[in-house]
Amino acid sequence: MTDAPRPLIIDTDPGQDDAVALLVALASPEFEVLGITTVAGNVPLARTQVNARKVCELAGRTDVPVFAGCSRPMVRALRTAEEVHGVTGLDGPDLPEPTMALEPRHAVDWLVDTLMAAADASVTICPVGPLTNIAMALVKQPAIAAKIREVVLMGGGFFEGGNTTPAAEFNIYVDPHAAHVVFSSGVPLTMIPLDATHSALMSRAWMADLGAVDTQVARATVAMLEFYERFDMERYGTEGGPLHDPCTIVYLLRPDLFETRFCHVAVEIASELTMGMTVVDWWDATGNEPNCTVARRIDADGLYDVIGTCLKRYPL
Ligand code: RIB
Ligand code: CA
Repeated sequence: MTDAPRPLIIDTDPGQDDAVALLVALASPEFEVLGITTVAGNVPLARTQVNARKVCELAGRTDVPVFAGCSRPMVRALRTAEEVHGVTGLDGPDLPEPTMALEPRHAVDWLVDTLMAAADASVTICPVGPLTNIAMALVKQPAIAAKIREVVLMGGGFFEGGNTTPAAEFNIYVDPHAAHVVFSSGVPLTMIPLDATHSALMSRAWMADLGAVDTQVARATVAMLEFYERFDMERYGTEGGPLHDPCTIVYLLRPDLFETRFCHVAVEIASELTMGMTVVDWWDATGNEPNCTVARRIDADGLYDVIGTCLKRYPL
């Protein structure tokens, strides 16, 4: 007897790697994607909400509602990442402007309404951008915490350090106060940090295999990733870049591919030097109650097999 599809909400700042996370989720019958909420991050909200709709149209999934959420972090000024993702946030392919409508409700209001109408511990959320929308929903209606089955987020770093400052990873750095709210909320939480995503880099063979697939999804994905991975390849001197955000979706499909530990994690919101640092008590030095399942390594071959299989399911 197959399980019922898992109700899933993806909160995102597309972003080429976000786009692949969306494509993997939308091609997986294991999920019922209830909606996509967009947030300012890699590029401003005006672009992330368009990019999410472009990806839904590329996937042939205009049935999935897309919402615009917060246009800036809770406290700090917005920091974007056009140097990585390009001015559009989805540089690489030339995807047409979307014709599907943006939902009129604010993403935070839709999150609260949807979660409050759901059964307890029933909805999974994958935030793959700054956590502003999720934190604002928790502040607006704390009772949603009981409705959340788990949050699996891409963000943070510990032994690997940061990619935006020496101490902080982009999603957490952009809105550290939102991250503090989420990590302190008590919701069942899994964090896929740079330690994990940097252990599983894209290979030339995998890109070539995808490049041989004659579909618009494959062509667009290769164009996106060829643009996107150049930044990390140059910075880290590697043969391929990390594919951060799809790791959250693959974790839900194949948790066996991930080495994890249940730890206490806190977010720095006081010191400018280490602002947004995820302080992971990997060795239980403090005795603080663990609040987060932290991924340290990923089976790279397994990860890219799953991503490639999902992308190849698209007929066009
Ligand atoms: O640090 C990587 C994260 O920041 C990814 O989610 C990427 O899309 C950017 O948002
Ligand atoms: Ca992202």
